[in-house]
Amino acid sequence: MAGVEYRHVDKTYPDGTRALSNLCLSVGDGELMVLVGPSGGGKSTALRLLAGLDPISGGEIWIGDECVNALSPQRRDIAMVFQNYALYPHMTVRRNLEFPLRMMRLGRSATAARVNDTAALLGLTPLLERRPRELSGGQRQRVAMGRAMVRQPRVFLMDEPLSNLDAALRTQIRAEIAGLQRRLAITTVYVTHDQVEAMTLGDRIAVLNAGRLQQVGPPQVLYDRPANTFVAEFLGNPGMNILAAGLSRDRRSLQLRSSGWEIPLAELPQRCRELAQHLAGPFLVGLRPEAFSPRLGTTTEMIVETVESLGHERLVTVRPAADTKGGGQTSLVARLRGGQAEGAGQKIELGLDGEQLRFFDEQGDLMG
Ligand SMILES: Nc1ncnc2c1ncn2[C@@H]1O[C@H](COP(=O)(O)OP(=O)(O)OP(=O)(O)O)[C@@H](O)[C@H]1O
Ligand SMILES: [Mg+2]
Repeated sequence: MAGVEYRHVDKTYPDGTRALSNLCLSVGDGELMVLVGPSGGGKSTALRLLAGLDPISGGEIWIGDECVNALSPQRRDIAMVFQNYALYPHMTVRRNLEFPLRMMRLGRSATAARVNDTAALLGLTPLLERRPRELSGGQRQRVAMGRAMVRQPRVFLMDEPLSNLDAALRTQIRAEIAGLQRRLAITTVYVTHDQVEAMTLGDRIAVLNAGRLQQVGPPQVLYDRPANTFVAEFLGNPGMNILAAGLSRDRRSLQLRSSGWEIPLAELPQRCRELAQHLAGPFLVGLRPEAFSPRLGTTTEMIVETVESLGHERLVTVRPAADTKGGGQTSLVARLRGGQAEGAGQKIELGLDGEQLRFFDEQGDLMG
């Protein structure tokens, strides 16, 4: 077993596409690291470089205490599961699981023992004599994982392994992967563009955008304190509201103020008070949809633009009633408890939890 480290890794493809810039990231021994980000961000590239399937253009990749830049894929002792895994259709599940071990020339009884253990772990024991076409999508996916696992590699790489599955199955297998990974404690790098998958699966998350690492940390830390507006908007469904605004204060209270409107803050949080002393804005203010509530201290009149009702909650797009310009420029999404949905154009009163405000500078980087 071993951790993984990217040290200042660059990747430029032969056609000049710069897929990764100065990637520095370490994955602890036994850790499950999720790489997440929008399409084209460089996630698969990062995995392929680690697996040795593509040469790196600069920097170093370490597995354990060894720099693997010059090592062939076979000698890196890594197993990879892709979205489009291919099982051998004419072989039974057992033969599919045995295949990588034959390639390693493992003895007959050791092979049988490993296959049986892996099958038991993945709930595949009753299916060992079936062929892939006689399995459901989720079962096939488990065989593909099993085939990677039997080798007992130092590192597991998974590139969107669940995206072919329907939503319910994805949730189920995701929980299985998390459980298995914890039990086996094999260092794992898991790629997804789905932020829900990232939040629920990762010990830590690394957000990649346009080849650059934006932030790395435990899911809740990234959610609560995103390093920049990209991470703030990417994580969460919907993401953080970001708007240009400032803080102002009168005798007793603090307001969030933008052109044409202001929202009094329900309380006067310590951190806002500190910021308000030297910052009037304008800067970028971030507000999670759950920062709004009709039951918070001082409320503000808002006009409803649209409502999405999800049963247990509703996502209501509003703008401050004082903002007469409208036009969606200061549209904010509020997450409210389920209940009777408002109609478009209706006025509602909402309070804002000042503790949940985040401030970003003009470059979009978190302040304070
Ligand atoms: N073989 C290649 N030659 C040239 N450019 C490539 C090659 N493979 C990938 N790229 C480019 O490198 C960038 C990163 O691609 P990559 O596949 O790593 O993204 P990704 O984050 O995995 O995206 P997705 O979520 O869509 O899978 C993209 O701009 C892509 O077009
Ligand atoms: Mg990819």
